[in-house]
Amino acid sequence: MTGHLPREPGKGAFEGRAAIERLASAYQDHCYGQLFYALARALRPSSCVELGVYRGFSLLATAAALRDNGGGSIEGFDLFDEYPYRHETFANASRNLRDCGLAAHARIHKADALEVHKRFAAVDWLHVDLSNDGDTYRRIFAEWAPKVRRVMLLEGGSPERDRVQWMTQFGKAPIVPALAEIERGHPQWKLAVLAPFPSVTVALRVQALDARMP
Ligand SMILES: C[S@@+](CC[C@H](N)C(=O)[O-])C[C@H]1O[C@@H](n2cnc3c(N)ncnc32)[C@H](O)[C@@H]1O
Repeated sequence: MTGHLPREPGKGAFEGRAAIERLASAYQDHCYGQLFYALARALRPSSCVELGVYRGFSLLATAAALRDNGGGSIEGFDLFDEYPYRHETFANASRNLRDCGLAAHARIHKADALEVHKRFAAVDWLHVDLSNDGDTYRRIFAEWAPKVRRVMLLEGGSPERDRVQWMTQFGKAPIVPALAEIERGHPQWKLAVLAPFPSVTVALRVQALDARMP
């Protein structure tokens, strides 16, 4: 799939959308902010986690949906200035949360995202955007699939995304074969890849996590 969806106000607009979508992000094109918003409106998650916040684009689009749902919160985790590549400071990301008026629905924490699964027994929504590669996918499914009740969203998943320069230059494990393994090994999850770059894998749980959970 290629091409741009319309960005003009009207259908799909939500309060604060323009300010959120001005934040630099690989998700800026192809209306991914609207995707996160619409999915969170439809699924009505209560507890959400995001790994990889940067300036807050996806975190805030999700938080806007939680605001409009009338409940729920999202906790974002990032190394911020300790990340050796392109990063944002904790202070600037915090300011973006405040400027968008969404601090009541979103909180951020400076932490190694790969350790965050130890902090949560169960969540409804997990979004992973950590310069993902195939090994990130394998690790996230191993650590988080038993804990996520509704949906996992992972940046990447298209063949085009596997061919980006840094993936090949640094010999990163491609995501497409990892997805095929995950589909075989996790039949309780249904996967769909939204192809417009950078692409997003949507994994929906199709079987109840645990009879004791709502
Ligand atoms: C692509 S950006 C996230 C973009 C963001 N989700 C958005 O909507 O624009 C990737 C982020 O992951 C962070 N990051 C990478 N590895 C990490 C790790 N192990 N722990 C925490 N943060 C990490 C980086 O600091 C960077 O801000």
